[in-house]
Amino acid sequence: MAKVIVNDVTVELKDDERLNGIQVARQAGFDIPHYCWHPGLSVVASCRMCLVETGRCDAETGEISMMPKLVPACQTPAMDGSVFVTESEKVHRARAQVEEALLIDHPIDCPVCDKAGECNLQDYHFKHGQEQRRADIRPFTSRRRSLGDTVTLFVDRCVMCSRCVRFCREISGTSELMVTGRGSGEEIDVFPGFPLENKLSGNVVDLCPVGALGDKDFLYSQRVWFMQNRPGVCAGCSTGCSIQIDENQDRVYRIRPRENPQVNHWWICDEGRYGFHGVHDENRFTLPSQRQQEQWVPLEWESVCEELQGAMSRAERPAVVVSPFLTVEEAYLLVTYARQVQPNVTCVLGHIPSLGVDETFPNGFCISAEKCPNRRGVEEVLKHGRQRLIDWDGFMQQCDAEPFDMIWLSGGYSQDWINADDLSRLSSASYLIQHDLLPSAISELAHMRLPEVAFAERDGSYVNRDDVLQSFGWAVRSPAGVWSTGQLCWRLLQRSGLYDAPAVLAEMAQEIPYFSVALPPVPEHGIDLKINQLVES
Ligand code: FES
Repeated sequence: MAKVIVNDVTVELKDDERLNGIQVARQAGFDIPHYCWHPGLSVVASCRMCLVETGRCDAETGEISMMPKLVPACQTPAMDGSVFVTESEKVHRARAQVEEALLIDHPIDCPVCDKAGECNLQDYHFKHGQEQRRADIRPFTSRRRSLGDTVTLFVDRCVMCSRCVRFCREISGTSELMVTGRGSGEEIDVFPGFPLENKLSGNVVDLCPVGALGDKDFLYSQRVWFMQNRPGVCAGCSTGCSIQIDENQDRVYRIRPRENPQVNHWWICDEGRYGFHGVHDENRFTLPSQRQQEQWVPLEWESVCEELQGAMSRAERPAVVVSPFLTVEEAYLLVTYARQVQPNVTCVLGHIPSLGVDETFPNGFCISAEKCPNRRGVEEVLKHGRQRLIDWDGFMQQCDAEPFDMIWLSGGYSQDWINADDLSRLSSASYLIQHDLLPSAISELAHMRLPEVAFAERDGSYVNRDDVLQSFGWAVRSPAGVWSTGQLCWRLLQRSGLYDAPAVLAEMAQEIPYFSVALPPVPEHGIDLKINQLVES
């Protein structure tokens, strides 16, 4: 086991642990400022902000010998006997000088910069910079240029850390960005005729430590200090990336990746990043309603519960379609309720939207073709206690063989998905309930419409394509009058108090072997349920 000394703290590394000076100092409780280093990218050691003193400790005598010059911590491996000094007069002076050099070229336009409030340059200057500005040559301009559909470059704000360039080479594998010029004339730019248009392009904005890269979708829409950062899980595809939902007063303004070594590391795709606008779609259903003589009559939720109970009990051949956009807790409550009222109810896995093929990038990040977050979780809920799983196509075949008289269709789809043939099969139901976000072709057939919550408004857990279960709470409140499937089924099952997703998950862990290790509280990076699947099979 390697021992490393950071200031006056000794850190013990595991045999397979390979850390640099920044990482080992973090373990010891010391933060080394840095711009160009990022754990997901190659090391270039160009900014020099992470300079530290280093040396070696003799294992036998305990004598420490230090190197005369400062070294970049990002490029210095921590080995047995390594010594790092991160807080000394020499180190502080070096940091102040780097800050001074950067600010000679950097415009002080913080009042109009989107990065203000979460900018490393601001924070580091406050903490490590010097009080006086010795040079006041102000060579900067307000130049900006569009790099592509998603990103704007504010040329003079750039500190040339090159993270964005390395991202495009190493992670997206598209290499649109490059450094032009030399020395003080260096600038970031795209290759002529090749705009920044890869499917992960928004990540360069997160990587930029200083506000040189602005997200066109977010630009000037909100000051960052007004927003709350809520942890969530992307519902855009079955990769299930961990995300951070930035909201203010129940409005989502920005989605960013949340680090998760089990799922998405530090990245998300543009589809997930910019796909949140549907949450605030003006066309969303907001009130339950029932068709009466071709008129839609609003209903109270209490009446909805009575109607549903009556319809379920009266039906001779009922079916419940469980959407892959529901959380596992919601799917479990819905299926439990349906089977409680009608033990022979047909429970079906809802339509799985799919687009193209899985797209894997050079570093392994994958955008799934399956455009829903929870197929695996819903499948396992439906399979429990039943011989076989019925999917949407199987359900359509059953409709052809013998129509269902009552169909409860849960949703959460962001787009119309049903084709004309399937629609005509649904039309044979004498009672069709649509619990969904937006009007669709199904709405024309439905006898009852129930408003559903959007992904940022849900409580619960999703299981991704690799059987990793992640839990999350709501980030924004749903519009007044909208109940989630979880809330509705909680009430239908006559459980006391408010819908409690962790309590439902704990119940599932007892009931369904696949979920047996998913006991709340679920760790931040989720729980891998694959092991249970192996045990079950
Ligand atoms: Fe080490 Fe930039 S972070 S030189």
